[in-house]
Amino acid sequence: MFSLKNKVIVISGASSGIGRQCAISCSKHGAKIILLARNKINLTDTLDNLTGKDHLIFALDIQDSIEIENSIRQATSQLGLIDGFIHCAGIQNTLPLRLHTPEIYNNQFSINAIAGFETCRIISKPEYINPIGASFILISSIRGVLGISNQVGYSASKGAVISGVRSLAIELAKKNIRVNSISPGIVEDTKMTNSIIKHLSQEWSEKNKLEYPLGWINTSDIANACIYLLSDEASKITGINLVIDGGYSAK
Ligand SMILES: NC(=O)c1ccc[n+]([C@@H]2O[C@H](COP(=O)([O-])OP(=O)(O)OC[C@H]3O[C@@H](n4cnc5c(N)ncnc54)[C@H](OP(=O)(O)O)[C@@H]3O)[C@@H](O)[C@H]2O)c1
Repeated sequence: MFSLKNKVIVISGASSGIGRQCAISCSKHGAKIILLARNKINLTDTLDNLTGKDHLIFALDIQDSIEIENSIRQATSQLGLIDGFIHCAGIQNTLPLRLHTPEIYNNQFSINAIAGFETCRIISKPEYINPIGASFILISSIRGVLGISNQVGYSASKGAVISGVRSLAIELAKKNIRVNSISPGIVEDTKMTNSIIKHLSQEWSEKNKLEYPLGWINTSDIANACIYLLSDEASKITGINLVIDGGYSAK
């Protein structure tokens, strides 16, 4: 069940957090991984933790479509056609509306949403994609569906991911490509989470965890869901937004 044996999977944001865990877990399930992010040292750290040897790293900015296509061209010539993509690259700015600027909105939309759609556009070209079938997953957030103070730009960019995925799922079905989003609640111990909670008290964290009936999320909870959505067992699942939030939004 849920084998990714010899599947070629592209993962953005593979230098850290959820993307790093997705790379580790997918490689354990037999996949060959194409790892994308800016920081080469951190990408190499991820690479060192992968199972198997058929993996490639590319240090690039996910907003640079030309560099993405160059990397995908080189990677497919070495590893074969692409079976899957997980867009984990993302940024978050937490600040009140009065401090938001067009640049802050643009950066979050550019990395969180547009870069994901652009990478889908490039990978889905016939010269790179496995025509038998492929699966794309874009990481959104519960903030894409649930409002919160101080994150108007972030939550809007994540809402764009969820709605864009639905349209992509319909458009790309004729190429046998499934497209889904995953919306995590707070994921423990990633750079993004740590950079936010370091400004908050221990008391805040303890209280917030009580809002999650099953507690905060681990990176492996997200990676496990990705493995399922990438696998052939999920062959009829497309256009969904899978919420993984330990029951937070069930209330
Ligand atoms: N942590 C949470 O609680 C949580 C909850 C819901 C959703 N999410 C979403 O999950 C995704 C991963 O978050 P995380 O918590 O794992 O964060 P993280 O540890 O900070 O990882 C973010 C990743 O994005 C990459 N990245 C950022 N800007 C980039 C750019 N311009 N070009 C290429 N790569 C870029 C970073 O790599 P480099 O710096 O090396 O480029 C890093 O690998 C994000 O989309 C986030 O919004 C997180």
